Amino acid sequence: MKKLVAGNWKMHGLSADLGEIKAIADASRGYSGVDVALCVPAILIERASRAVPDFAIGGQDVHFAEKGAHTGCISAKMLLDAGATLTIVGHSERRDAQRESDADVKAKAEAALSCGLAVILCVGESLEVRESGEAVATVGTQLEESLPHGEAAAGGVPERLAVAYEPIWAIGTGKIPTMDEIAEMHDALRQRLVTAYGPAGQQVRILYGGSVKGSNAGEIFAVPNVDGALVGGASLTAADFLPIVAAAAEVEGSGKAA
Ligand code: PGA
Repeated sequence: MKKLVAGNWKMHGLSADLGEIKAIADASRGYSGVDVALCVPAILIERASRAVPDFAIGGQDVHFAEKGAHTGCISAKMLLDAGATLTIVGHSERRDAQRESDADVKAKAEAALSCGLAVILCVGESLEVRESGEAVATVGTQLEESLPHGEAAAGGVPERLAVAYEPIWAIGTGKIPTMDEIAEMHDALRQRLVTAYGPAGQQVRILYGGSVKGSNAGEIFAVPNVDGALVGGASLTAADFLPIVAAAAEVEGSGKAA
Protein backbone atom coordinates (compact mmCIF):
# COMPACT_ATOMS: atom_id res chain seq x y z
CA MET A 1 0.00 0.00 0.00
CA LYS A 2 1.26 3.49 -0.84
CA LYS A 3 2.50 5.07 2.37
CA LEU A 4 1.12 8.33 3.76
CA VAL A 5 3.40 10.66 5.68
CA ALA A 6 1.37 13.45 7.25
CA GLY A 7 2.67 16.34 9.32
CA ASN A 8 0.65 17.78 12.20
CA TRP A 9 1.80 21.32 12.86
CA LYS A 10 -0.45 21.66 15.93
CA MET A 11 -0.40 25.29 17.16
CA HIS A 12 2.73 26.21 15.23
CA GLY A 13 3.06 28.27 12.08
CA LEU A 14 2.66 31.87 10.92
CA SER A 15 2.66 33.42 7.47
CA ALA A 16 6.45 33.53 7.72
CA ASP A 17 6.42 29.72 7.65
CA LEU A 18 4.69 29.42 4.27
CA GLY A 19 8.16 29.11 2.74
CA GLU A 20 8.75 25.97 4.80
CA ILE A 21 5.46 24.49 3.55
CA LYS A 22 6.54 25.29 0.00
CA ALA A 23 9.94 23.69 0.53
CA ILE A 24 8.29 20.52 1.88
CA ALA A 25 5.75 20.41 -0.97
CA ASP A 26 8.38 21.02 -3.67
CA ALA A 27 10.72 18.32 -2.38
CA SER A 28 7.86 15.86 -1.79
CA ARG A 29 7.07 15.96 -5.49
CA GLY A 30 10.27 13.96 -5.98
CA TYR A 31 8.83 11.05 -3.99
CA SER A 32 5.93 9.96 -6.16
CA GLY A 33 5.65 6.62 -4.36
CA VAL A 34 4.61 8.34 -1.11
CA ASP A 35 1.57 10.49 -0.30
CA VAL A 36 2.63 13.51 1.73
CA ALA A 37 0.36 15.97 3.55
CA LEU A 38 0.62 18.80 6.07
CA CYS A 39 -2.14 19.55 8.58
CA VAL A 40 -1.61 23.19 9.46
CA PRO A 41 -3.41 25.68 11.72
CA ALA A 42 -6.83 26.52 10.25
CA ILE A 43 -5.99 30.11 9.43
CA LEU A 44 -3.03 29.02 7.30
CA ILE A 45 -4.99 26.51 5.20
CA GLU A 46 -6.16 28.89 2.52
CA ARG A 47 -2.79 30.59 2.04
CA ALA A 48 -0.94 27.27 2.12
CA SER A 49 -3.24 25.64 -0.40
CA ARG A 50 -2.86 28.63 -2.73
CA ALA A 51 0.91 28.54 -2.34
CA VAL A 52 1.12 24.78 -3.10
CA PRO A 53 -2.05 23.95 -5.08
CA ASP A 54 -1.03 20.41 -6.00
CA PHE A 55 -0.07 19.42 -2.46
CA ALA A 56 -2.36 18.00 0.26
CA ILE A 57 -3.09 20.56 2.98
CA GLY A 58 -5.29 19.51 5.86
CA GLY A 59 -7.00 20.72 9.01
CA GLN A 60 -6.36 19.38 12.50
CA ASP A 61 -9.97 19.15 13.63
CA VAL A 62 -13.48 19.66 12.27
CA HIS A 63 -16.92 20.20 13.77
CA PHE A 64 -19.52 17.49 13.14
CA ALA A 65 -22.31 19.92 12.23
CA GLU A 66 -22.67 21.42 8.78
CA LYS A 67 -23.22 24.93 10.18
CA GLY A 68 -24.81 26.67 13.14
CA ALA A 69 -24.24 28.36 16.46
CA HIS A 70 -20.84 26.87 17.32
CA THR A 71 -18.59 29.77 18.21
CA GLY A 72 -14.99 29.25 17.17
CA CYS A 73 -15.63 25.99 15.32
CA ILE A 74 -14.99 25.07 11.69
CA SER A 75 -17.13 22.80 9.51
CA ALA A 76 -15.96 20.28 6.92
CA LYS A 77 -17.40 22.45 4.16
CA MET A 78 -15.34 25.41 5.43
CA LEU A 79 -12.16 23.32 5.40
CA LEU A 80 -12.88 22.24 1.83
CA ASP A 81 -13.74 25.79 0.85
CA ALA A 82 -10.37 26.96 2.19
CA GLY A 83 -8.58 24.36 0.07
CA ALA A 84 -8.07 21.51 2.52
CA THR A 85 -8.34 17.96 1.21
CA LEU A 86 -8.08 16.16 4.54
CA THR A 87 -8.42 16.58 8.28
CA ILE A 88 -7.23 14.93 11.45
CA VAL A 89 -9.96 13.90 13.92
CA GLY A 90 -9.66 12.60 17.47
CA HIS A 91 -6.08 13.62 18.18
CA SER A 92 -5.31 12.76 21.81
CA GLU A 93 -4.59 16.41 22.59
CA ARG A 94 -8.19 17.21 21.63
CA ARG A 95 -9.67 14.09 23.23
CA ASP A 96 -7.94 15.21 26.42
CA ALA A 97 -8.09 19.04 26.47
CA GLN A 98 -11.45 19.37 24.65
CA ARG A 99 -12.93 16.25 26.26
CA GLU A 100 -13.82 14.71 22.92
CA SER A 101 -15.46 11.30 23.22
CA ASP A 102 -15.33 8.40 20.76
CA ALA A 103 -18.87 9.35 19.71
CA ASP A 104 -17.74 12.93 18.96
CA VAL A 105 -14.79 11.64 16.94
CA LYS A 106 -17.05 9.27 14.97
CA ALA A 107 -19.46 12.13 14.18
CA LYS A 108 -16.55 14.33 13.05
CA ALA A 109 -15.14 11.57 10.83
CA GLU A 110 -18.55 10.97 9.27
CA ALA A 111 -19.11 14.69 8.64
CA ALA A 112 -15.68 15.11 7.03
CA LEU A 113 -15.94 12.00 4.83
CA SER A 114 -19.47 12.88 3.70
CA CYS A 115 -18.18 16.26 2.61
CA GLY A 116 -15.37 14.75 0.53
CA LEU A 117 -12.42 15.23 2.85
CA ALA A 118 -9.98 12.45 3.65
CA VAL A 119 -9.67 11.70 7.36
CA ILE A 120 -6.86 10.70 9.69
CA LEU A 121 -8.57 9.27 12.76
CA CYS A 122 -6.32 9.05 15.83
CA VAL A 123 -6.40 6.49 18.61
CA GLY A 124 -3.88 5.62 21.30
CA GLU A 125 -3.40 4.59 24.91
CA SER A 126 -2.06 6.36 28.00
CA LEU A 127 1.07 5.16 29.79
CA GLU A 128 -1.09 3.79 32.59
CA VAL A 129 -3.05 1.63 30.14
CA ARG A 130 0.16 0.49 28.39
CA GLU A 131 1.68 -0.53 31.74
CA SER A 132 -1.48 -2.37 32.79
CA GLY A 133 -1.17 -4.63 29.73
CA GLU A 134 -4.52 -3.48 28.36
CA ALA A 135 -3.26 -1.34 25.47
CA VAL A 136 -4.37 -3.56 22.57
CA ALA A 137 -7.86 -4.14 23.95
CA THR A 138 -8.36 -0.50 24.97
CA VAL A 139 -7.21 0.99 21.67
CA GLY A 140 -9.21 -1.62 19.73
CA THR A 141 -12.40 -0.59 21.52
CA GLN A 142 -11.56 3.08 21.05
CA LEU A 143 -11.18 2.49 17.30
CA GLU A 144 -14.37 0.47 17.03
CA GLU A 145 -16.36 3.22 18.73
CA SER A 146 -14.76 6.06 16.73
CA LEU A 147 -15.01 4.51 13.26
CA PRO A 148 -17.33 6.16 10.74
CA HIS A 149 -20.35 4.13 9.72
CA GLY A 150 -23.60 4.64 7.90
CA GLU A 151 -23.81 6.78 4.80
CA ALA A 152 -20.33 8.24 5.29
CA ALA A 153 -18.77 4.79 5.19
CA ALA A 154 -20.68 3.58 2.15
CA GLY A 155 -19.01 3.22 -1.22
CA GLY A 156 -15.26 3.40 -1.18
CA VAL A 157 -14.89 5.65 1.84
CA PRO A 158 -12.27 3.47 3.56
CA GLU A 159 -9.82 4.61 0.88
CA ARG A 160 -10.20 8.15 2.15
CA LEU A 161 -9.84 7.01 5.74
CA ALA A 162 -6.56 6.50 7.57
CA VAL A 163 -6.18 5.50 11.19
CA ALA A 164 -3.25 6.83 13.23
CA TYR A 165 -2.08 4.80 16.21
CA GLU A 166 -0.48 7.32 18.53
CA PRO A 167 0.46 6.11 22.02
CA ILE A 168 -0.08 9.23 24.15
CA TRP A 169 3.11 8.59 26.10
CA ALA A 170 5.13 8.62 22.86
CA ILE A 171 3.87 12.00 21.62
CA GLY A 172 6.55 14.66 21.88
CA THR A 173 8.53 12.62 24.39
CA GLY A 174 11.20 10.98 22.24
CA LYS A 175 9.98 7.58 23.52
CA ILE A 176 8.55 5.01 21.12
CA PRO A 177 7.10 1.53 21.62
CA THR A 178 9.19 -1.46 20.54
CA MET A 179 8.73 -2.59 16.95
CA ASP A 180 7.01 -5.72 18.30
CA GLU A 181 4.54 -3.58 20.22
CA ILE A 182 3.81 -1.49 17.12
CA ALA A 183 3.37 -4.68 15.04
CA GLU A 184 1.01 -6.19 17.61
CA MET A 185 -1.14 -3.04 17.79
CA HIS A 186 -1.29 -2.46 14.03
CA ASP A 187 -2.22 -6.09 13.43
CA ALA A 188 -5.04 -5.81 15.99
CA LEU A 189 -6.26 -2.56 14.40
CA ARG A 190 -6.20 -4.18 10.94
CA GLN A 191 -8.41 -6.97 12.26
CA ARG A 192 -10.86 -4.45 13.72
CA LEU A 193 -10.98 -2.60 10.39
CA VAL A 194 -11.72 -5.80 8.49
CA THR A 195 -14.42 -6.68 10.99
CA ALA A 196 -15.95 -3.22 10.52
CA TYR A 197 -15.64 -2.85 6.73
CA GLY A 198 -15.05 -6.34 5.34
CA PRO A 199 -12.29 -6.67 2.71
CA ALA A 200 -12.28 -2.85 2.25
CA GLY A 201 -10.77 -2.69 5.75
CA GLN A 202 -7.52 -3.94 4.19
CA GLN A 203 -7.31 -0.67 2.21
CA VAL A 204 -7.41 1.64 5.21
CA ARG A 205 -3.93 2.96 5.92
CA ILE A 206 -2.76 2.57 9.50
CA LEU A 207 -0.22 5.23 10.42
CA TYR A 208 2.06 5.21 13.42
CA GLY A 209 2.52 8.50 15.31
CA GLY A 210 4.57 9.55 18.32
CA SER A 211 8.19 10.78 18.20
CA VAL A 212 8.74 9.73 14.58
CA LYS A 213 11.94 11.25 13.17
CA GLY A 214 14.38 10.66 10.38
CA SER A 215 16.50 8.36 12.51
CA ASN A 216 13.71 5.93 13.50
CA ALA A 217 11.31 6.20 10.53
CA GLY A 218 12.95 3.46 8.47
CA GLU A 219 12.54 0.73 11.08
CA ILE A 220 8.99 1.85 11.90
CA PHE A 221 7.95 1.81 8.22
CA ALA A 222 9.32 -1.72 7.86
CA VAL A 223 6.86 -3.06 10.46
CA PRO A 224 3.94 -4.99 8.91
CA ASN A 225 0.70 -2.97 8.70
CA VAL A 226 2.51 0.35 9.20
CA ASP A 227 1.29 2.30 6.19
CA GLY A 228 2.78 5.65 7.05
CA ALA A 229 3.25 8.13 9.87
CA LEU A 230 1.64 11.09 11.56
CA VAL A 231 4.47 13.40 12.55
CA GLY A 232 4.32 16.33 14.97
CA GLY A 233 7.54 18.07 15.99
CA ALA A 234 9.63 16.69 13.13
CA SER A 235 7.17 18.00 10.51
CA LEU A 236 7.83 21.68 11.21
CA THR A 237 10.86 22.02 8.98
CA ALA A 238 11.77 20.56 5.62
CA ALA A 239 15.13 19.54 7.08
CA ASP A 240 13.48 17.30 9.70
CA PHE A 241 10.46 16.15 7.71
CA LEU A 242 11.94 15.20 4.36
CA PRO A 243 14.17 12.41 5.72
CA ILE A 244 10.97 10.76 7.01
CA VAL A 245 9.37 11.02 3.56
CA ALA A 246 12.58 9.63 2.07
CA ALA A 247 12.50 6.71 4.53
CA ALA A 248 8.94 5.88 3.43
CA ALA A 249 10.02 5.94 -0.22
CA GLU A 250 12.99 3.74 0.59
CA VAL A 251 10.86 1.07 2.29
CA GLU A 252 8.42 1.19 -0.62
CA GLY A 253 11.35 0.71 -2.95
CA SER A 254 10.19 3.71 -4.95
CA GLY A 255 13.22 5.89 -4.15
CA LYS A 256 13.54 9.43 -5.35
CA ALA A 257 12.60 10.52 -8.86
CA ALA A 258 15.37 12.22 -10.84
P1 PGA B 1 5.28 14.07 17.75
O1 PGA B 1 3.68 14.28 17.65
O2 PGA B 1 5.75 13.57 16.42
O3 PGA B 1 5.81 15.46 18.06
O4 PGA B 1 5.52 13.10 18.85
C1 PGA B 1 2.88 13.37 16.94
C2 PGA B 1 1.45 13.80 17.00
O5 PGA B 1 0.99 14.26 18.06
O6 PGA B 1 0.70 13.68 15.99
